[in-house]
Amino acid sequence: MSVDWFIAGAGALALIIVAVRIFRILYNILAPYVFLKPIDLKKRAGASWAVVTGATDGIGKGYCFELAARGFNILLVSRTQSKLDATKQEILAKYPHINVRTAAYDFTDASTSGYQNLLTQLNEVDVGILVNNVGMFHGYPEIVHKIEFGSARDVAVVNTLPPTLVRI
Ligand SMILES: NC(=O)c1ccc[n+]([C@@H]2O[C@H](COP(=O)([O-])OP(=O)(O)OC[C@H]3O[C@@H](n4cnc5c(N)ncnc54)[C@H](OP(=O)(O)O)[C@@H]3O)[C@@H](O)[C@H]2O)c1
Repeated sequence: MSVDWFIAGAGALALIIVAVRIFRILYNILAPYVFLKPIDLKKRAGASWAVVTGATDGIGKGYCFELAARGFNILLVSRTQSKLDATKQEILAKYPHINVRTAAYDFTDASTSGYQNLLTQLNEVDVGILVNNVGMFHGYPEIVHKIEFGSARDVAVVNTLPPTLVRI
């Protein structure tokens, strides 16, 4: 008799665990659409400008459009002025109510004067969000001691200096 009760109890416990798990999965899928409200990023950021590095292609450009949709003014930073201008026009065509500025900077330039010029442009706006998207890696996998010096230097500079120096 006691063995029957033990098996029934274990079965009930297993069913409860499965039910709770299914409930949690359904909650995680449905809650964002049904109960939860999106965070007001502008309120949380406390300022109206967002800075995006590597802003003219791929992931960085995607961030620009998402932030523009949430009402942020955007300061775009990447190397090529023509791409910056084209991206600015694309954003303004879709979100004409925001302001967009551009700053051309090659983050492989680690000079103090280069950074000071960029920081001057950043300090002209009230920045609440920095999306430090710019980054690079070697063109192909290589044994560490065979990596070309210039490539290793650029990877180190581009991946470490912006998050350290582009402070808000
Ligand atoms: N896509 C992926 O699957 C993936 C996966 C893991 C990590 N990531 C990382 O995510 C980031 C974005 O990737 P993505 O694929 O979106 O890149 P992407 O499409 O190649 O775009 C790179 C952007 O960065 C700018 N850029 C490149 N080198 C720069 C430099 N030295 N100084 C300033 N701007 C520079 C480019 O514009 P200009 O050419 O005008 O400068 C462009 O706007 C990168 O850091 C990448 O390493 C990407």
